[in-house]
Amino acid sequence: MTVLMLRPATLDDMIHVQAIYAHHVRTGTGSFEIEPPDLTEMKRRMGEVIERNLPFLVSEVGGFIAGYAYANLYRPRAAYRFTCEDSVYIDPAYQKQGIGQALLSALIEGSAKSGFKQMVAVIGGSDNLGSIRLHERNGFERVGLLPKVGFKFDRWLDSVLMQRAL
Ligand SMILES: CC(C)(COP(=O)(O)OP(=O)(O)OC[C@H]1O[C@@H](n2cnc3c(N)ncnc32)[C@H](O)[C@@H]1OP(=O)(O)O)[C@@H](O)C(=O)NCCC(=O)NCCS
Repeated sequence: MTVLMLRPATLDDMIHVQAIYAHHVRTGTGSFEIEPPDLTEMKRRMGEVIERNLPFLVSEVGGFIAGYAYANLYRPRAAYRFTCEDSVYIDPAYQKQGIGQALLSALIEGSAKSGFKQMVAVIGGSDNLGSIRLHERNGFERVGLLPKVGFKFDRWLDSVLMQRAL
């Protein structure tokens, strides 16, 4: 049986995190970015998460980084300071094996421990069934839909908003 280990990310992991994210930016609608950020930018993003005392986790399978998840502030203005937003990305070779589930569940626990009260998922595309299902089974409810706010791969994309208390 393959052993899955979750642990806090280190700067050395960011090269793998950057590669996973770059794949999803280039091929999917989960992220509304179009150009993948480089390693320096991913390290900067990680630093911001850690500074805010929020979790940035990686999942390791046999020494390989198979996915990652982090929470960051939902919005930067001060009154939102108890509300975070999650991000979960799995290497395509490791999808649908329960890794997203393990990461999101640990992320919810870690964000609650850090004092955050609400978690919001901003899901790219109404047809992103993997992400919608993952959030549903972790207690998120659909709270909104912003129709056609994104444009990527020559089509308009909705943003699905889901939320749960921590
Ligand atoms: C969405 C994503 C994080 C899910 O991670 P995963 O490790 O593949 O998912 P898991 O194996 O843990 O499955 C969790 C649940 O989602 C369901 N699921 C996963 N992929 C699915 C898909 N493509 N369609 C329908 N359901 C799916 C699983 O069946 C499971 O639910 P169940 O136990 O009730 O059957 C992953 O597919 C991914 O990286 N997607 C691309 C990037 C993205 O959209 N990230 C989310 C940004 S908000």
